[in-house]
Amino acid sequence: MEDKTLKQKYIDKYFWFLKERDTANSFNKSSDLNSYHQSEIGTAQRHFEDVEVTVSHLYREAHPALGGLSYGGQLYRKLNEIRKISASQVIVEVGGGLGYLAYSFMNQFRADNAGARAPEYVFCDLTLPFVENQRKLNKAGSIFYCQANAETMPFQDCSTDLIIDNENIADFTPVKLNKKIVLDFLNGRLDASLPNDGLVRKSLQWIKLGQIDVSDAMPEFVFNYGAAEFIGEIKRVLKKDGIAFISEYGILQDYPTAVCLHGHVEYNIQFTHLIKIAKALGMSVELLSLLDFLGFDADTEVIDQCSLKYLCVLLKEKGVELPYLAYTKKMLEERFPGFIDHVQGLIFHKISEYSVFHDLKSFHVLLIAKN
Ligand SMILES: C[S@@+](CC[C@H](N)C(=O)[O-])C[C@H]1O[C@@H](n2cnc3c(N)ncnc32)[C@H](O)[C@@H]1O
Repeated sequence: MEDKTLKQKYIDKYFWFLKERDTANSFNKSSDLNSYHQSEIGTAQRHFEDVEVTVSHLYREAHPALGGLSYGGQLYRKLNEIRKISASQVIVEVGGGLGYLAYSFMNQFRADNAGARAPEYVFCDLTLPFVENQRKLNKAGSIFYCQANAETMPFQDCSTDLIIDNENIADFTPVKLNKKIVLDFLNGRLDASLPNDGLVRKSLQWIKLGQIDVSDAMPEFVFNYGAAEFIGEIKRVLKKDGIAFISEYGILQDYPTAVCLHGHVEYNIQFTHLIKIAKALGMSVELLSLLDFLGFDADTEVIDQCSLKYLCVLLKEKGVELPYLAYTKKMLEERFPGFIDHVQGLIFHKISEYSVFHDLKSFHVLLIAKN
């Protein structure tokens, strides 16, 4: 793709500043993400179709862009290449949603290790209907479930070999900070005990530990406090040589802005802040694009969002419920022989351009290792 002109870069930056300003102005502590997940999600049914569509949900079945594997299967293969996964290990998945990732991850383990005992797999999720779905889908082997907040995981120190967190950390607690207070604190002109709000005080400590430079921030800005706490939890819970995989959409500069979804507002992740914190805690960190890490074939063409919704409506009229997947034309032809060719105006995009509901280029992976 063409490089952006300098003028376009200035325009983008200007609009991002406006978004940061609006995010700070409309930041509302009462829209508490933890209580949304704990008590406002009544049913798992269609949540990842109607409320928030995740990448792993769209690629939960075998897909040509992932060499014929599903998202979870491919994730198993990639993580296993980095650090061998074996029966004696403990895997924790945080925010596992409906449990599809775990299902295909463990199936791939079994397929690649015929006859071997599978590792222990522990789900940690705040939303009860999701935990119930995880339980329904994942029955084979040593699987455990808990409804808990991953910002303070209910696991012992040094107890886990692998932590998986897929598209979850933008849901963690955000905190609005005042730049002057942060700078005064960093310059030693403000005692940490001064702000009344405990979350603000802890955020100041994370910023200090990570030596995060906020000199270019707006007068008020949002900090990914809960994600920083989670990095601290990773350090505590991982065994020596354990690794954590985190994937989420986000930014590598500037400050988090609000992302309004049905029923809740989440905040995109400022990855460089988390990297600084993880390094300050003595862990090693690698930042990759999700496209590269999972080895997506970026030239594969998949249906676009409007076309998928249109197709869902058409099929519903025929009494067919179409699951949301990142369909290629061939996948649709195989599913509905003779039907798709008669539907006019369906649009398909290369994954490198736009993939169904997401610009996959904005998704990053953090690989964290506790040495
Ligand atoms: C956007 S969904 C992603 C689900 C799944 N990983 C996927 O890729 O489809 C976020 C998940 O994180 C869970 N979650 C949100 N906040 C959490 C928290 N503080 N602690 C644990 N789980 C949380 C939600 O219940 C949900 O399962």
